[in-house]
Amino acid sequence: PSNIAIVKYWGKRPIQLPQNPNISLTLDRAHTITKLSYQAKKDKNRRISLTFRLDGQAMDSFSERIIKYFEQLVPIFPFIDQLHFDIDSSNSFPHSSGIASSASAMSALALCLCTLEHRLFGSLGEEESFREKASFVARLGSGSAARSVYAGAAIWGKTIDVQGSTDEAALGIQQFLHPSFLTAKDRIMIISEQAKAVSSSVGHALMDQNPYAPTRYTLAKSRIYLLLNALRTGDWKQFGTICEQEALDLHALMMSSSPSYILMMPNTLKMIQRIRQFRQSTGLSIYFTLDAGPNVHVIYPTSEAEAIENFMDDHLVKLCERGQYIQDAVGAGPVQIK
Ligand code: PMV
Repeated sequence: PSNIAIVKYWGKRPIQLPQNPNISLTLDRAHTITKLSYQAKKDKNRRISLTFRLDGQAMDSFSERIIKYFEQLVPIFPFIDQLHFDIDSSNSFPHSSGIASSASAMSALALCLCTLEHRLFGSLGEEESFREKASFVARLGSGSAARSVYAGAAIWGKTIDVQGSTDEAALGIQQFLHPSFLTAKDRIMIISEQAKAVSSSVGHALMDQNPYAPTRYTLAKSRIYLLLNALRTGDWKQFGTICEQEALDLHALMMSSSPSYILMMPNTLKMIQRIRQFRQSTGLSIYFTLDAGPNVHVIYPTSEAEAIENFMDDHLVKLCERGQYIQDAVGAGPVQIK
């Protein structure tokens, strides 16, 4: 599954370590299905031998990224340079929908590799160590992917607020979730299907020179405690306040980078304003967050779904490109398909 960060990971240190702890909800409908097949490697001259197909089509740009990723993983999985791999991947959401697929794609691949390690060596029989290793390996592919190996919600990054949290891998925190968050809904509004103009890796790198970065990291750390508290107690107001502040801060950091850039679009702002007006006039628990792009995630409790979904159908969907959205919810984490 993909995930949506509530406290964002934005800014990193080598090697792919977060500048601040971050928390996400794991999604359900937005996911990647990956099949990893292997055989003896024939071309011994190549260190890494693999083919990668997305929806059945060979994708050279992705293959190159995965070859680099596999090179990095040889010390962790020494079998990687002994085998040839065929990787077939498909996303549940349209490839060009503007939905970030690296979290689901990289975590699915990391889970496949850990499953293979266990099959070959029987070394990852314990659920906890399996997940921890999968999260560690996923992180090296894409930071946010570290959080996608857990059901419900995950925290990535060391904080005194959660025992056992580390910068190396995420930790599942589903057990902390109030029932209203376990069943929370997220409607992902596709404002634009276009691939984003500035990649997340460029965005992270720009944080190194951002004058607001130190304040941002301190603020994010303090929000972790408040968010965990809201998630435990079912405090939607507290949750929503942090959720929206984090979304707007993320985009403010993009605007204050040098060079500065803007990923929101006019309809992103229109949607945010409509959501806030509707919340003010009805008192319902409807909140938004944004990823590094123009699309809007609308998050709300299932108990208020009827009125909120009617409002979205009538007033928000028209702001989406070709009326597209993905009706998602907090999910049960990755599953191995037999
Ligand atoms: O994992 P990356 O490098 O694609 O960075 C993800 C950054 C955000 O999606 C904007 C925030 C997050 O924590 O997921």
